[in-house]
Amino acid sequence: IWLIMKVTVVGAGNVGASCAEYIAIKRIASEVILLDIKEGLAEGKALDLSQTSTTLGFDTRIIGITSDYSITSNSDVVVITSGIPRKPGMTREELIGINAGIVKDVSSNILKYSPNTIIVVVSNPMDTMTYLTLKITGLPKNKVIGMGGALDSSRFKTYLSKSINKPSSDIHAMVIGGHGDTTMIPLVRLASYNGLPVSEFLNKDEMDKVSKETMVGGASLTKLLGTSAWYAPGASVAYLVDSILNNQKKLIPCSVLLNGEYGQNDICIGVPCIIGSKGVESIVELKLNKDEFNLFNESSNSVRAMNESLKL
Ligand code: NAI
Ligand code: 2OP
Repeated sequence: IWLIMKVTVVGAGNVGASCAEYIAIKRIASEVILLDIKEGLAEGKALDLSQTSTTLGFDTRIIGITSDYSITSNSDVVVITSGIPRKPGMTREELIGINAGIVKDVSSNILKYSPNTIIVVVSNPMDTMTYLTLKITGLPKNKVIGMGGALDSSRFKTYLSKSINKPSSDIHAMVIGGHGDTTMIPLVRLASYNGLPVSEFLNKDEMDKVSKETMVGGASLTKLLGTSAWYAPGASVAYLVDSILNNQKKLIPCSVLLNGEYGQNDICIGVPCIIGSKGVESIVELKLNKDEFNLFNESSNSVRAMNESLKL
């Protein structure tokens, strides 16, 4: 049988288009629907991307559409990237009002045509938008996943690899907590170079420097680019979607609803998850030390404070 794996990406902007491109190039899905409200944008990007299929060698069908959600029906996964991106000097938090309206509108439209889908939320402030999506859609908590930890971890690993001068593919490390400059928690203690703790290669100052670089990783890029980044965000979404569609059960830090895990309730925040065909298959509870646990509490307080402004 020909199994159709269908992914819809809402928002054909920088992150949405990049994510569609990686999903196609890596042959993660058989069909990608790009949807945007800007007339012609999704159609144009989908057409352009489709024309790379013969040179790059993939068969994924990429279809662009303006606002017509009926085309998205029966999507296995829907990625929400619609919203305005962060401008230089702007915090993710400032985006909340505008993006909450967009995310509300988009998630209810998605559900009309794909009531059983898994939603991956990318729009910022991501932890709050994930919480909002969960509340608006009423989907079970395993089906609403915020992408942020995958990206922050990839930045963390890249900075670590540079700092200890070892190949990035040999580095394993995770960032948990909120997806914000001050709320994310790079877990340096647990980071390793092929199983060897990075503390064997870096002193405290060097480790602090890497953590700092990771935490402002998004802001540094925004400053350079004049808008927020898209290659690593798009690739991180594709990585997550791959683990869902192909039931890889990878351990990926994602923003998910906590029900007592890590001492938190009624909040979506980044924790390590096993990601497979059911979406969030389980949450992995790390044994955090006292400092890490305190940081996690602080991070949760900030995310919770931001959720308050949703006035749900
Ligand atoms: P962009 O401006 O390039 O693309 C956003 C697209 O959304 C635009 O094409 C716009 O027309 C579309 N859009 C707006 N309202 C819409 C609606 N109601 N329905 C459908 N489409 C709509 O922005 P970019 O750079 O792609 O960023 C998208 C979002 O992702 C931003 O909120 C950004 O902050 C966030 N982001 C999150 C990351 C994460 O790790 N969670 C990483 C990078 C970006
Ligand atoms: C990033 O981390 C702004 O969330 C976006 O690049």
